[in-house]
Amino acid sequence: MRTQVVIVGSGPSGLLLGQLLTNAGIDNIIIDRVDRDYILGRIRAGVLEVGMVGMMDKAKAGERMHKEGLIHEGFSLSFDGVQHRIDLQGLTGTSVMVYGQTEVTRDLMDKRIETGGLTIYNAGNVTPHDFDTDHPYVTYEKDGVTHRIDADFIAGCDGFHGTCRASVQDKGVKNFEKVYPFGWLGVLADVPPVDHELIYAHHERGFALCSQRSLVRSRYYVQVPLTDKAEEWSDDAFWDELRRRIPADKAEALKTGPSIEKSIAPLRSFVAEPLRFGRMFLAGDAGHIVPPTGAKGLNLAASDIHYLFSGLQEFYGEKRMAALNDYSRRALSRIWKAERFSWSMTMLMHTFEAEGEFGVRMQQSEFAYLTGSKAAQLSMAENYVGLPY
Ligand code: FAD
Ligand code: DHB
Repeated sequence: MRTQVVIVGSGPSGLLLGQLLTNAGIDNIIIDRVDRDYILGRIRAGVLEVGMVGMMDKAKAGERMHKEGLIHEGFSLSFDGVQHRIDLQGLTGTSVMVYGQTEVTRDLMDKRIETGGLTIYNAGNVTPHDFDTDHPYVTYEKDGVTHRIDADFIAGCDGFHGTCRASVQDKGVKNFEKVYPFGWLGVLADVPPVDHELIYAHHERGFALCSQRSLVRSRYYVQVPLTDKAEEWSDDAFWDELRRRIPADKAEALKTGPSIEKSIAPLRSFVAEPLRFGRMFLAGDAGHIVPPTGAKGLNLAASDIHYLFSGLQEFYGEKRMAALNDYSRRALSRIWKAERFSWSMTMLMHTFEAEGEFGVRMQQSEFAYLTGSKAAQLSMAENYVGLPY
């Protein structure tokens, strides 16, 4: 088989790239190691920056998002019970949209079917080859047979544990990493959200986040030790712990119900440099991970795809490699800023035993500075809504 761009991974970054290419008349094939239902069963991000919303529109997959997504003009930080609202709209003139990653993925998958894009699911042992030549190809196994797809380019959109970054470990890639000593226990429940906006809460027992998917579906998180197991947390224990960590009036108003999903995600900061290896490009979680505190993971995948797609469009339209040659530099410049923001929000809002009393005083004074300084609030707001592409 031959195509122009072979995309490894059918998550948000692979699907977005695939749709933009298809709309531009550039042939592409997506390969994933699991199937559609498995991918749609993962509960992940929920907050879209204005840039990501624009990318969904550009992919012509934004119709349902505009109907069902919720515009949020602010969010709150709660610090040991004191709540402070960050007025995103007033500070930056823009807002964010609450629309789950599952729905983003479903809309992109449906658009791909509608426009006739080929996706190969349940592909085993996917392997990129010869990407340091002009004739790269990918092999995979399906139904006991090894298949080969020749292409002009390979897009490695296969997440943190994918095969594309793994295949460049001996090709001069440099990895930067920080692992945090805790995880987030997340619960999804069909109950109305406790507030119309998100609340990020710092508490001496640990961080908590009140988020949502719709007016009748809530997503909540609490910081837990990495040794905890999701199945050992009963729903009641989760709701009790959440109530302890959020402002008292919210704890009282909290509506609880049976969980429809419960899982623990570890927190990590990670960047691979560079993101281009000859004719293979890494995008999204394949190239970097942020801790979820700043709601940046999914949004960074979209900005990578913006840079990668413009490079591929230039190549096929004008036969020039300039933008592709510059992909890694442009993408990394925005990635590192989002890494910094996600790290700083994580350090402010969680409890870190190892940082001791000094660390607690630093967090308290940062929160006091933030609540008293318009400049500090603007800095947080402009990062939260997303830096320009
Ligand atoms: P992915 O969504 O990981 O997609 C990669 C795809 O590649 C997958 O479909 C996978 O099956 C496929 N793949 C993997 N290996 C191979 C292979 N060898 N061969 C073929 N295909 C392969 N971000 C937030 O902003 N907020 C959150 O609350 C949040 N929660 C998260 C919770 C978890 C458990 C995880 C893992 C991430 C979370 N994120 C969150 C981050 C966000 O979901 C990601 O940044 C986003 O999914 C990145 O999209 P992607 O397409 O680059 O990668
Ligand atoms: C959600 C996750 C986040 O990491 C975040 O910062 C905000 C919202 C969510 O899953 O809804």
